[in-house]
Amino acid sequence: MPDWEVVNLDSLTYAGNLANTIDVQTNPRYRFVYGSITDKQIVDELVRDVDVVAHFAAETHVDRSIVDAEPFILTNILGTQRIIDACVRHGKRLHHVSTDEVFGSLGPTDAKFNEATAYSPRNPYSATKAASDHLVRAAIDTHGLQATVSNCTNNYGPFLYPEKFLSIAITNLIDGDPIFIHGDGRQVRDWIHAHDHALGVIAIIEKGKIGETYMMGGNSELSVLDTAKALLGVMGLTDNMLEYQKDRPGQDRRYAIDYSKIERELGWRPTRTFEEGLRDMVLWYRKNEAWWRPIRQGSAYREWFKQQFGRVL
Ligand SMILES: NC(=O)c1ccc[n+]([C@@H]2O[C@H](COP(=O)([O-])OP(=O)(O)OC[C@H]3O[C@@H](n4cnc5c(N)ncnc54)[C@H](O)[C@@H]3O)[C@@H](O)[C@H]2O)c1
Repeated sequence: MPDWEVVNLDSLTYAGNLANTIDVQTNPRYRFVYGSITDKQIVDELVRDVDVVAHFAAETHVDRSIVDAEPFILTNILGTQRIIDACVRHGKRLHHVSTDEVFGSLGPTDAKFNEATAYSPRNPYSATKAASDHLVRAAIDTHGLQATVSNCTNNYGPFLYPEKFLSIAITNLIDGDPIFIHGDGRQVRDWIHAHDHALGVIAIIEKGKIGETYMMGGNSELSVLDTAKALLGVMGLTDNMLEYQKDRPGQDRRYAIDYSKIERELGWRPTRTFEEGLRDMVLWYRKNEAWWRPIRQGSAYREWFKQQFGRVL
């Protein structure tokens, strides 16, 4: 994307952070706009002036959605509809970024999710993302919206807010705290590096067929327990840094993605193995304490951490 100009609309929720874009902030082809996708006027004005909308903005944390679903309904459903409306009004191309969590949970030997899998969301986060996917597809049919959708599995990598499994685990371990394992730790996740996810979104924007959905996976299915053990290995630590906690309600047992369609049609596949991506991620968190330390020391984060894990940071 050497000549793309990018306008980034973000309302900087607790998960947003201007420091995440430090590398591009002074680039003349980049512009940041502070605002919410639920704001009709801002969305309309910005969509009017661009060629393509890549819609990433969302409330994303399952545990938070269980405590309070309202922000998820506002951003993920209403906000997506605002973007759809503006794209329809101005005849603009939309790519909608979604998750494999909309498909619910797989058994250990079930076939992986693919583009034909029926939706079966099992928590408020995935239910609102499912709703947003349906709204995009409905607008393709009813309004001729020029849109594509992608459903991607669990992302990891730098700048991951320390509320997701791997970023909490790494920052905990650096501080001498344990890795928290929900339930028996046998839940299976398919890890994809965020950079590979981004490359897939670019491939879909450049070459994807309007009206189509594309699945993206990391080809790295691992149980949470094995993920934790891999991390302990990378950080030179042992199993005594594992702490088991009560499982969360609506916990999905297994996610896995069959990404053969995007591979066949657009030539995309994940480029990083989990082992190398995890090493890079640990290195990044070790080098960039200035990024995550203020988050971890913040009073809102510490309160959330205490409620979530019953531990004072
Ligand atoms: N992280 C994953 O594992 C994963 C996997 C598959 C799909 N996705 C999807 O990718 C997208 C990004 O996920 P993430 O993990 O980076 O999320 P995140 O929670 O880390 O970040 C979300 C971003 O959206 C912004 N935002 C939230 N509400 C907004 C609003 N109303 N208006 C404007 N900006 C708003 C936040 O400030 C933040 O910058 C989401 O759509 C998510 O569903 C994520």
